[in-house]
Amino acid sequence: MIIKINQACDLVIFGAKGDLAKRKLLPSLYKLEKSKKIHENTRIIGAGRANWNTQEYISMVKTAIKTFLNEEIKDVVWKKFSSRLYFCNIDVCEGLHFLRLKKILEQKKNIVIYYCAVPPNTLNAIFKGLGDTNLNVLPARIVLEKPLGICLKTSKKINNQISKYFLESQIFRIDHYLGKESILNLIALRFANSFFFNNWNNQTIDHIQITVSEEVGIEGRWNYFDEMGQMRDMVQNHLLQILTIIAMDQPDSITSENIRHKKLNILRALSRIDVNNINVKTVRGQYDSGIIKGKKVPAYIEEQGANKNSQTETFVAIQANINNKKWLGVPFYLRTGKRLAYKYSEIVIVFKKIPTNLFQNSHLEMFQNKLIIRLEPNESIKFNFFNKIPGLDQEYKLESSELKYNYFDRKKPKKSIDAYERLLLESMRGIQSLFVCRDEVEEAWRWIDPIINAWKQNDSSTIQLYMSGTWGPQSSNLLLTRDNRVWHKYN
Ligand code: BG6
Repeated sequence: MIIKINQACDLVIFGAKGDLAKRKLLPSLYKLEKSKKIHENTRIIGAGRANWNTQEYISMVKTAIKTFLNEEIKDVVWKKFSSRLYFCNIDVCEGLHFLRLKKILEQKKNIVIYYCAVPPNTLNAIFKGLGDTNLNVLPARIVLEKPLGICLKTSKKINNQISKYFLESQIFRIDHYLGKESILNLIALRFANSFFFNNWNNQTIDHIQITVSEEVGIEGRWNYFDEMGQMRDMVQNHLLQILTIIAMDQPDSITSENIRHKKLNILRALSRIDVNNINVKTVRGQYDSGIIKGKKVPAYIEEQGANKNSQTETFVAIQANINNKKWLGVPFYLRTGKRLAYKYSEIVIVFKKIPTNLFQNSHLEMFQNKLIIRLEPNESIKFNFFNKIPGLDQEYKLESSELKYNYFDRKKPKKSIDAYERLLLESMRGIQSLFVCRDEVEEAWRWIDPIINAWKQNDSSTIQLYMSGTWGPQSSNLLLTRDNRVWHKYN
């Protein structure tokens, strides 16, 4: 059994000088130090091929934190933080090198957490190296980053490899969206408020939109991204995770097992999209050159290292349907893309129209109520509704009004907590509910694979170009207008 309290840990980071460690993990760990969340005796051990001693590692860590943390480093915090840092020179392909790590770990009796911030092709060597030297035994934990494979088959392969050495209860699969404050709040919003709880189904909801829009392009990651595309990079994980949290039934309690079970039911109930309905259910696009925030940006195929004939999608829009009693007839429209007009993520719940209109004299058509949940930035919840315009007019005149709640507008934490901060802390506490289980990853691939295969097979679903700085290809609008609906406008 994994002990679920904040205990002294040895956090071993494989990929110590990689991008993820520098940009996200180290700054987040420093912030946890600053907020005194790390156990007094916890150590952080960078592991990698660099020929560094611990002093050299410490100076790399300081530079990384200075570069990627948007605040001054405080001497007293740094002093404590740097005293936790160690470096272990290890080539994961050399089985015997793991004995060096063992030696460091044996100095203490801390719970060990291995964080694999490495490319997928080195994962198996790490699992095996740890297993062969008995470094895998409970209560050790292991944290895996996405992507876990590029399809169901490859994902199963990784899961089978790791399961030779680690139990599912030891494995923490990261989807960093699950560490975001606004995503966690969805559970509170849905299950702590009777109004939402009772109106969250196909009796009252017309449709749901989920948008994750990015301004960035591929940020120099051509090789990675061209193999993945936006579908594997964003939809398979982040968008499907949001969808499952929005659609899942109430779990019996807020434990990992119960939440994961309910999310899994949704993934299993997703209607299949394949070559038969690919053109009506999906749109894919690729960014052309354009202007973002007044700056000219290149087309996808002009990015550094690009293959000019690439058909990889940087934009996806999908109409997803959940085939269960609660959601039958309620489409979930998902869209995500790179180099779009603004960076923001939002869920829009659009309610059904009222069956009879009492106000026909002034309003021929009633608008629909909307609940707009802004996940990022400026996290907020807005509710659109109708009001009578005050006055002595004989007729009722209506106006559309808005109730708005800003998530960080109060004496609670002023700044949003970085997702990695929360997830690192949860892994140190040994709590798995914010991590994705094997079945979820595989079920998501089971739904995604036929879509990607259908794109490959179906000539008429060729990729559509969109100008950078816009909202994607025109046909993304058609996906909704065909159903007499429109994307909620960004504002
Ligand atoms: C990552 C993807 O998982 O999420 C990136 O690999 C993407 O391509 C990023 O840009 C978006 O994360 P966030 O937190 O900035 O919305």
